[in-house]
Amino acid sequence: MRIDRFIGQMTAMSRSEASLAVRKGRVAVDGVVLRDPSAHIDPERQSVTVDGKETVYKRNVYIMMNKPIGAVCATEDGDLTVIDLLPSEFKRAGLFPCGRLDKNTTGFVLITDNGKLAHRLLAPASHVAKTYRFSLKFPFSDEDIALLEKGIALEDGSVTLPCVLKRLSPDEGEITLHEGKFHQIKRMFLAVHNQVRTLSRVSFAGIPLDKSLAPGECRLLSENEAALLESYLRCSGKNSNILE
Ligand code: URA
Repeated sequence: MRIDRFIGQMTAMSRSEASLAVRKGRVAVDGVVLRDPSAHIDPERQSVTVDGKETVYKRNVYIMMNKPIGAVCATEDGDLTVIDLLPSEFKRAGLFPCGRLDKNTTGFVLITDNGKLAHRLLAPASHVAKTYRFSLKFPFSDEDIALLEKGIALEDGSVTLPCVLKRLSPDEGEITLHEGKFHQIKRMFLAVHNQVRTLSRVSFAGIPLDKSLAPGECRLLSENEAALLESYLRCSGKNSNILE
């Protein structure tokens, strides 16, 4: 791993601050000062100090959970949380859900201890794609699709960003958003005089929900999935990577 990336991930420094620290000679690897920010180190075997202080290597954890109805996306709550549902082998300090699904929404919740990455994934400017499957009280029309895809005014006057809708049956479909307003999909369908009956997130940041996970179950992300997520730390805008 590049030394500037390592320091950027393991400390509060940004990648560019880390790079500057290396160039200024503030960083030593195995006791030897290193001045090239692009130099590679082996974080499992080598010791890195910044201003003489050891930077402890901690691999981040990324867990995909299929959230069941009734669980809350929080670390602590009077109600059952997604963290309460983690099996003991996954439990460790610092884990939190990255973003929120409503209590009655099911599907993909990312649970991680990587605060920097979560911040990036949730930043409005990141435009991370989230796809949801929904069922509605009433059938929806082509006109509804056109209105919603273009961006629609919600009841508070805010306007949604363009999105993509796919019809699966007269009253069921999939919607892909690049933002995350409070209760967004429910409010979008209210704006076209409909009502969401069920909602489930089937993909997050280009990673599809593992269909073998029953509600309440979880697994660690694969190396490829984790690398895709971490690639958001290296780009400031929209990331179009998709794992099929
Ligand atoms: N939109 C909603 O209305 N609810 C969710 O849980 C997610 C998106």
